[in-house]
Amino acid sequence: MERIKQHAIWGHKGTFVLAATGSAVGLGNIWKFPYITGENGGGAFVLMYLVFIALIGVPVMIAEVTLGRHGRANPVASVQKMAQQSRVSLGWGAIGWLGVTTAFLILSYYSVIAGWALDYMSTAIQGGFSGWDGEQASAAFEALQADPWRLMIWQTLFIGMTVLVVAFGVIRGLETAVRVLMPLLFLLLLLLLMYAAVAGEFARGLSFMFSFNPGDLSWEAASVALGHAFFTLSLAMGAIMAYGSYMPGRASIGKMVLTVAFLDTLVALVAGLAMFPIVFATPGLSPSEGPGLMFVSLPVAFGNMPVGVLFGAAFFILVTLAAWSSTISLLEPCVAYLTERFGWRRLSANVVIAGSAWLLGIGSVLSFNLWKEVKPLLGLTVFGLLDSATQQVMLPLGGLAMAVFVGWIAKREVLRRELRQESDGQFALWLLLLKYVCPPALLLILAGSFWA
Ligand code: TRP
Repeated sequence: MERIKQHAIWGHKGTFVLAATGSAVGLGNIWKFPYITGENGGGAFVLMYLVFIALIGVPVMIAEVTLGRHGRANPVASVQKMAQQSRVSLGWGAIGWLGVTTAFLILSYYSVIAGWALDYMSTAIQGGFSGWDGEQASAAFEALQADPWRLMIWQTLFIGMTVLVVAFGVIRGLETAVRVLMPLLFLLLLLLLMYAAVAGEFARGLSFMFSFNPGDLSWEAASVALGHAFFTLSLAMGAIMAYGSYMPGRASIGKMVLTVAFLDTLVALVAGLAMFPIVFATPGLSPSEGPGLMFVSLPVAFGNMPVGVLFGAAFFILVTLAAWSSTISLLEPCVAYLTERFGWRRLSANVVIAGSAWLLGIGSVLSFNLWKEVKPLLGLTVFGLLDSATQQVMLPLGGLAMAVFVGWIAKREVLRRELRQESDGQFALWLLLLKYVCPPALLLILAGSFWA
């Protein structure tokens, strides 16, 4: 078991929370959550999302961190260790393997979207939004989409940034990065919220996000909300498992996980609350704008407000930082797997994986222009396919496998020992949710969205 000695431990007790929050908070919170909320009617969607986070996301996250900390190894080996101790087939390691694969697929297209944020950051810093109206903003967004070279330059730069941090290793690279990035991110977000409260239609934004209309409930929305709950918490991918494996043994897993889930949800809600009031206050913009919501509507707002250059630049820097700490967590489990399983050097593993993700990412880049009409399967582009396959299928399936494995297969005493800081009642409640609530709910929604 020399692997245990090799495996690093975070230098500070609070780093797990910071790192996991850094992983969780990303494009999912700031770009995706507002636009899918807008597309799915607002309040009802937000409510479903919150319920899924609390009843499914949190228990699965606790399961995943427990596996990681117990295994103290890469995701595949961690699951296998638990399987071995529970005297079941090592084939359960496939859960870890599925996770590492999905992380790689997500990394490939996530870097492309993060590249958009980089492009907008550079425009914002140069004061490029000034005076924009809705038409100009749409045209600018379309021009970016239509230019494969420009997309590729930013995608390449972004992957390079990620490689840089991961290359420095867990303690010097990741830990330093998240300790600086996370507090900065919260500061910027609060600034934006304050702006929205003063200059936007705050009451309308608030009621859009929180007034519940039962007519908006649907299988489709439920499936999107569920997939997003997993995506936003970085679950079922080995990312949280890998971070958990660096967690010191004395920390309480339950408390840490609740903190991360709370912070992640807070950021998503604050991002929505900062965005919708601005959308409502700008003529010609609607909350159901789609993926362009952030990239089309906000520059209009920033371009026409006093000190908009400052706020606009702050916002896109924030998005870039958030995406950065997320891609770090997508690359890390793949690198951990190759170095520990095959003895690769950290730098080689890093460069090979990031290079392959970059190559695959070009498929996503081209999906927005030259390959717009290339639809290999189900009428979806390469990007659409990767996006739906990972989020709507692989994440819920991975979560289901994880809940079944930890809830039903893993040895109870081993789990109890790892979760020793939790009270008997808390442990029992967690196991109850994991065994009896998560699997049926996941199956139901997977099946429901399939047939609907
Ligand atoms: N949670 C991140 C977001 O909301 C994305 C992410 C990072 C992720 N690591 C992950 C998603 C691992 C799934 C699995 O943007």
